[in-house]
Amino acid sequence: MSVFRAFCLRSRNGILTHIQSQPSRIKVLQPLFYKLRNDVHFKHLAGSTSTIPQKAPKKTPSPYDSMIRKKRDEAERSILVQVQSAMSHPELYSYISQFASVEQMYHYSFSDDMQFIVVELSSAEDVERILDASGHLSQGDLIPVRSPLLWFRAKGGGNSLKSKSKKKSKNIENAENLPPLKCGCITLSEGDIMKSVSSCSSFSEQVQVLYKLSCLDELGSRIRFLTARQLELALQGIFPNAKAIPFGSSVNGFGRVGCDLDLSLHLDSCESEEEDGNPTSLRLIFQTKMIPFNGRAQMQRQMEAVGDILQLFLPGCTHVRRILQARVPIVKYHQDFTSLECDVTMSNQTAVFMSELLWIMGSLDARVRPLVFTVRHWAKAVRLTSATPGPFITNFTLTLLVLHYLQCCKPHPVLPSLTTLISMAAPGDRRVSDDGVNCTFLRDISRVKPSENTESLHALLFGFFQFYASFNFEGRGLSLAKGHGDNSGVGIVKPDASPLYVENPLERMLNVSKNVNGQELERLRIEMRSAAWLMEEMLALSDDEAQEVHSTRTSHSALKSASDGALSWGLMDLLSPSNAKVKDNRLSVGTAMKINAKGRLVRVTDLFEDTERDDSRASHSVTRGAHKGRKR
Ligand code: UTP
Ligand code: MG
Repeated sequence: MSVFRAFCLRSRNGILTHIQSQPSRIKVLQPLFYKLRNDVHFKHLAGSTSTIPQKAPKKTPSPYDSMIRKKRDEAERSILVQVQSAMSHPELYSYISQFASVEQMYHYSFSDDMQFIVVELSSAEDVERILDASGHLSQGDLIPVRSPLLWFRAKGGGNSLKSKSKKKSKNIENAENLPPLKCGCITLSEGDIMKSVSSCSSFSEQVQVLYKLSCLDELGSRIRFLTARQLELALQGIFPNAKAIPFGSSVNGFGRVGCDLDLSLHLDSCESEEEDGNPTSLRLIFQTKMIPFNGRAQMQRQMEAVGDILQLFLPGCTHVRRILQARVPIVKYHQDFTSLECDVTMSNQTAVFMSELLWIMGSLDARVRPLVFTVRHWAKAVRLTSATPGPFITNFTLTLLVLHYLQCCKPHPVLPSLTTLISMAAPGDRRVSDDGVNCTFLRDISRVKPSENTESLHALLFGFFQFYASFNFEGRGLSLAKGHGDNSGVGIVKPDASPLYVENPLERMLNVSKNVNGQELERLRIEMRSAAWLMEEMLALSDDEAQEVHSTRTSHSALKSASDGALSWGLMDLLSPSNAKVKDNRLSVGTAMKINAKGRLVRVTDLFEDTERDDSRASHSVTRGAHKGRKR
């Protein structure tokens, strides 16, 4: 992006931000950034003009920063060891204890020969001692990388794990203080989850259980930070301050077991200078190369080099793909030892702050995360989201949809608007990403009053579907900054002709759902309506009645639930792919498009009054219609 365009954006919107992010953060824009950063007038995202002082106030570490720091610290003190089985635990402990002090051990596997133990040690020096005591196989055709990713060879198997210590290996029996082997899962068993969901006594409990069982657990989080550590260690030879910072669903509180790992690579932060608050205090400055004029091309070359390092040198990193022409150049790869799909971007600091914002939103009310999980799960079940890129709504956009709805709940919103969070920000909350985007908002969530909204998860989920089933997508867009906002109606006036407009909360002139086409929006609307109908029917029944209906239905129909023998009821009806299929058959796009979006929701029973059929795959509408009749 040219300086001219950046300047135009700034003057038009009054917002310090740029469409093109990282690639522009180079020589061309450098003078502009310096100017803007030190500018006397700085238009706040909230709309009020504030001033960025010449000397930035000291950053107050946020709870999010502390969480990330703790996890990074754990990763710095950890090694990942491939073992024969979980039974190797005492022997591994005993062996490692010769050199280092072990704190915790976690086991996971994804096949018989892919078994791993994450060992957390007391200090980073412990890791160094272990690596000093490790070696390579003597074959000549291996790349001799030194990293905390190891394997534990059977005793007597040669000299790959050679002890530089003269001490003899302790007997396993002597392994005192052996920490229990903690287990975690890195893949979801949909059947097990659905069984647990089925045995709940209420719909709201089902939502909670779905969340608890599918959210990223401690192990999932540890292997993500270890995977990041591998990359950052590989670069630290040239860039000792290099950081690979996880962002996105791995850290924002909305991550599901098995979610991808988004990494923002920072080769060298100038934090020391900023934290010091006085750039001129440094007398010795590193000699460095200038980034050439064509910074985007340079960024692409750098990303290419990162791709090469991953592909050529780093153990376990496979399927490296370089997508360098994208707005934000990206390198994708698979880490085979942690079974993670990774997306690396360069200096994506705004996205890191976005993760913090989502984490804060999720921490403000205990109902937010369960709801987001349920909506993401539902969208996957009805095939609104897709693993392949395209015109489909993404999990990130869906998350913003849920947050926006929670800001709009009447009479009491569950969440405050972003504008409120910005207006409550303390001087220590001030953050400007390295590409100049103002990411200032309240970090201390204890200062936000709890919501007066006491709706159940059941009611909120129903409200969500109703809200968007009748949302005026043609004319309005969604803005988390505005939230329920002013008297001008729900949402904001759509600034362009995109079918779905969801304002990027931090870079307001961007639409995060720009990829969604008209057809996908229509599908979204249809599915929202179907879900609202289904839930409307459910809400008319007590939880006991709902279970009874579905018990009757499952007993004399071939409609099998997602899990063996588990009773399909409540939330499961919303999430079951088989039900989604039934719905597909039931409601064609054409039929649904005839329904007036703004009118009251049409009852499914009215639409399908005479469609009862002796079909084992009878749709919900038929079943529920029949049931309603019986009740009456
Ligand atoms: P992802 O698309 O990977 O989403 O974007 P996600 O939240 O991690 O969800 P899943 O589980 O992978 O599907 C990663 C992060 O990039 C930032 C957000 O912080 C998002 O969470 N992002 C993404 C933006 O800032 N703007 C965008 O337009 C898209
Ligand atoms: Mg992601």
